[in-house]
Amino acid sequence: QAQETVLNDGYKIPQVGLGTYQLRGGQGYHQIISAIKDGYRSIDSATNYDNEGIVGQAVRNSDVPRDQLFISSKLPGKYHHYDDALGAIKESLARMSLDYFDLYLIHWPLPKRGLYVEAWQALVTAQKLGLIKSIGVSNFEPEHLDRIITATGVTPAVNQIEIHPYWINTSRVKEDAKRGIVTEAWSPLGRGNSALSEPIVKKLAEKYGKNVGQIILRWHLQRGIIPLPKSTNLEHQRANLDVFDFELTTEEIKAINQLDRPDGRIDGQDPNEYEEFE
Ligand code: A2P
Repeated sequence: QAQETVLNDGYKIPQVGLGTYQLRGGQGYHQIISAIKDGYRSIDSATNYDNEGIVGQAVRNSDVPRDQLFISSKLPGKYHHYDDALGAIKESLARMSLDYFDLYLIHWPLPKRGLYVEAWQALVTAQKLGLIKSIGVSNFEPEHLDRIITATGVTPAVNQIEIHPYWINTSRVKEDAKRGIVTEAWSPLGRGNSALSEPIVKKLAEKYGKNVGQIILRWHLQRGIIPLPKSTNLEHQRANLDVFDFELTTEEIKAINQLDRPDGRIDGQDPNEYEEFE
């Protein structure tokens, strides 16, 4: 099982979670429940992933008590109005058949829409109502963080952003840390891009007797980042949790940092440019 990090609200979060983007249907259900059996305790879902039903089903059918699991979901952009957001959180819970979320995030700030402060106020209310333990955001820039913190006095526990060896995102990780916010990485393995076969990554895999995915996950952990890897391969899925028994050197972390590139984003787009109500 993963080690844990304490969030700024006192709750603990496992240091590796299962990403579930594109896990759907019977096969998705099977992958999620086998991940829980293999020791995953944190599952990252989103209303937009269209899989809250199977996540909830896997949670209920696993032998692991609810209070030992850390279940996250995310608010879609079309529900940023306060009342809509509160309704959407309750509907997310109903789809999962759960009483509470451990973590709930605003999926995107959609700054052109200008409603993310309202959405944040709804998450603060939902937390007070006991529907959510920890509240956070995703794809937020420092200016968005400051706006919601100033408006409500409540700092997000987590900011989930894109990070992988081609997009190391150091400045945003530092801005999160400055505010006491833990950074989670989406697509921590670059969605399987060629970073996995970079010579430095292969060399370290050989040195430590680990696979390339494990090397990159270890790089995240030692940068203080919580990775949310996904895999359709049960062996990889298992391996991705088995990253707590070795340590990269500072020099090796720096060498992986060198893979960063200005055009390294997976979808090539700045989240600030998103306009659609995702
Ligand atoms: P596979 O499904 O064959 O394991 P991300 O989490 O960044 O979206 O990346 C997911 C991609 O990374 C998938 O293509 C997945 O392929 C691959 N992957 C996941 N874990 C590993 C691993 N331990 N070693 C190599 N590739 C991995």
